[in-house]
Amino acid sequence: MEFSSDANQRIARLAAHLQPQMDESSILRRADCRAKGGSPGFKVAILGAAGGIGQPLAMLMKMNPLVSVLHLYDVVNSPGVTADLSHMDTGAVVRGFLGQPQLESALTGMDLVIIPAGVPRKPGMTRDDLFNINAGIVKTLCEGVAKCCPNAIVNLISNPVNSTVPIAAEVFKKAGTYDPKRLLGVTTLDVVRANTFVAEVLGLDPREVNVPVVGGHSGVTILPLLSQVKPPSSFTPEETEYLTNRIQNGGTEVVEAKAGAGSATLSMAYAAVKFADACLRGLRGDAGVMECAFVASEVTELPFFATKVRLGRTGAEEVYQLGPLNEYERVGLEKAKEELAGSIQKGIAFIKK
Ligand SMILES: NC(=O)c1ccc[n+]([C@@H]2O[C@H](COP(=O)([O-])OP(=O)(O)OC[C@H]3O[C@@H](n4cnc5c(N)ncnc54)[C@H](O)[C@@H]3O)[C@@H](O)[C@H]2O)c1
Repeated sequence: MEFSSDANQRIARLAAHLQPQMDESSILRRADCRAKGGSPGFKVAILGAAGGIGQPLAMLMKMNPLVSVLHLYDVVNSPGVTADLSHMDTGAVVRGFLGQPQLESALTGMDLVIIPAGVPRKPGMTRDDLFNINAGIVKTLCEGVAKCCPNAIVNLISNPVNSTVPIAAEVFKKAGTYDPKRLLGVTTLDVVRANTFVAEVLGLDPREVNVPVVGGHSGVTILPLLSQVKPPSSFTPEETEYLTNRIQNGGTEVVEAKAGAGSATLSMAYAAVKFADACLRGLRGDAGVMECAFVASEVTELPFFATKVRLGRTGAEEVYQLGPLNEYERVGLEKAKEELAGSIQKGIAFIKK
């Protein structure tokens, strides 16, 4: 059968699209192939996209109507995840990138970079135990961001967040690209857990509950402000103790239940998408987009702290104060600050050594 030259070109383009996708030339051909017809929206990269968090996160971002282009980068298995997700009939165009030589292509032109790359906790490990491996990974990836998309918003998920955010800040400072508004440590899972556990105690639908969680993202640094729960609610001292402990140890609950198979991935992917979607709505210019995040902050004497922030076109445009705390929370705040100070220092020292 004879095809017209137009048809031949279309078939050639499709064949290129379907080839195992990871060499430079096919990245270029695929850019030709569909991106022009893609929906308007933001360009998002996920670094660590083939992991336990990365895969469901990539799927949920592929379903997000605010995303036009989705870049999936990992050091293993990104071709398979990319091929799989690329068959979903949603608007975002998906492209895969494998290994360090393709990091720069993965990052160029991105509006938002989400980083869940690294190793997760196993039973008996604290988030700090992950420090040495994940610190090096985050450093390399952030050097790529500084070089290829210095204006992108960065959502940092890799643990220990209390140290990886200061590491990223130091990398960006060294590169001369640091904008504190654009670097956000993702603590949304703590808020998601707090909303769920508080709703259980109050007998409410979790979607109606909003619990501010401040401080950091590890053990006692996770400080739920139960006195500021919406809708306004009061708790007995036993309920306060139970809820605070459960929220602070929610991660360990999952690590132990998975018994060596990793840490929270599905609820984390959900939380990461909730946060990324808020960042994209902020970038679009929506008013009143508010989330908790671990950011550069003057709320306490520490250089980084998680509180509610307002997300706008340039990232975390406003960092909110803590608001009135009760005695239980004031004691918790002192403990949180003490531990956070050490974790922040550890991150900064890693880069400066
Ligand atoms: N912020 C949070 O609330 C939160 C919650 C849960 C887990 N985490 C953290 O998220 C991270 C990922 O967890 P997971 O369960 O998905 O782990 P995982 O091991 O399943 O996946 C991690 C992925 O990162 C990839 N990776 C490793 N080195 C890389 C590099 N240099 N560049 C790109 N990709 C690289 C791995 O190949 C893997 O696919 C861990 O650090 C974990 O502690 C954070």
